Amino acid sequence: MPLHKGPAEPQPDRRLALNPFYGEANPVGGMTDAPPRHRLPDGPLPPMSAYQLVHDELMLDGNSRLNLATFVTTWMEPQAGVLMAECRDKNMIDKDEYPRTAELERRCVAMLAHLWNAPDPSVAVGCSTTGSSEACMLAGMALKRRWAKRNADRYPGGARPNLVMGVNVQVCWEKFCNFWEVEPRLVPMEGDRFHLDPRAAAELCDENTIGVVAVLGSTFDGSYEPVAEICAALDALQERTGLDVPVHVDGASGAMVAPFLDEELVWDFRLPRVSSINTSGHKYGLVYPGVGWALWRSPAELPEELVFRVNYLGGDMPTFALNFSRPGAQVVAQYYTFLRLGREGYRAVQQTTRDVARALAERIEATGDFRLLTRGDQLPVFAFTTAPEVTAFDVFDVSRRLREHGWLVPAYTFPANREDLSVLRVVCRNGFSADLAQLFVEDLHRLLPELRGQSHPVSHDKQAATSFHH
Ligand SMILES: Cc1ncc(COP(=O)(O)O)c(C=O)c1O
Repeated sequence: MPLHKGPAEPQPDRRLALNPFYGEANPVGGMTDAPPRHRLPDGPLPPMSAYQLVHDELMLDGNSRLNLATFVTTWMEPQAGVLMAECRDKNMIDKDEYPRTAELERRCVAMLAHLWNAPDPSVAVGCSTTGSSEACMLAGMALKRRWAKRNADRYPGGARPNLVMGVNVQVCWEKFCNFWEVEPRLVPMEGDRFHLDPRAAAELCDENTIGVVAVLGSTFDGSYEPVAEICAALDALQERTGLDVPVHVDGASGAMVAPFLDEELVWDFRLPRVSSINTSGHKYGLVYPGVGWALWRSPAELPEELVFRVNYLGGDMPTFALNFSRPGAQVVAQYYTFLRLGREGYRAVQQTTRDVARALAERIEATGDFRLLTRGDQLPVFAFTTAPEVTAFDVFDVSRRLREHGWLVPAYTFPANREDLSVLRVVCRNGFSADLAQLFVEDLHRLLPELRGQSHPVSHDKQAATSFHH
């Protein structure tokens, strides 16, 4: 699909439909002319009319709480909403004008360094971003710059940098490789292995590898990649060949789940090979969309020349970001949530979400119509497909029919070498309660007899289904 362009409609001059309550039936400031859809209206509208026109159109958006496709937070406490409203006018980059917001950002980085077991949290460095995508770009840039410095005799000469990762990585890593001219080296899925294999990762590394990305956990099925095993395979590679390949952990979701629910799992800065970690504050960090975090083990992992300086209380404040202006509200909401929940609060929230995911996965399996690929016991996310004997319907039919009940559950086809496998994925988040999960199961049970009665799967747009990326 191309980017947004001009009017796609047959009548580009079409106007918005005006409710008479705001038009001729409104004696005070009633509008005589409905505003155009595709160009700036000639004059102003009364605020209430403008509000109602926008509000009415947005009613057709799905209900975000029923969106089981998104990882992004769809519910926060009202107090968080109030704080965000209080800070929506503050620009994160204006460190000098809003020093307290800058301080809260600094504290969040310090808390994450501690949470992710940086050997010395006081020297770990990090920043907030708009989300994990930006954080991954920054982490990738640091890897590339470090490699380029180590290989200054060959780059930019003939050498072409590469990044090794599983084919299951989120699209932000394809973007990184495209934008920053790095060759993506993707380890395909194989059989029932749907994420990166340590041995295959090490085999793809050579002297031009800027790093290996390990995902905690995979967007496709919610499974954790074996970060410690990947590091061990790279340790062995170093012993054999001398190649020293750093690891970046894309913890978009899992870096805010594993520290609370899987304390025995060693995946973070405790592994000396892990040089940087990102997470989405707006996923299991439990903040509304618009915040991510990137951290490096120490300043040695983040080349100094990538860091820019802005004015801060008359002094210099280092920043590392793709954007300049960005709202302060999300960072403040992240600090609020850290303060509000603490470790124990996060543990309770994530455990409840994971319990909902596991129980829901089991109930879906119990229908007999589906086979689970994952069980919601790592990320509170699971993927499932139709049972082998099911021929009357497919996952795309299920997705389409669930939508009729308001549930948004994506169906998509896996990448190489499992293009034969199509799945549904459910992302459980705080706010999708056991009660809502019960309603979901009831709706699924209502649909199944009809689906079983189909003579064959109903045709669908496979192309659209396979291009699902989040
Ligand atoms: C593993 C992984 N990395 C990166 C991203 C991109 O994150 P964001 O939407 O915060 O930019 C996602 C989003 O789902 C993800 O699952």
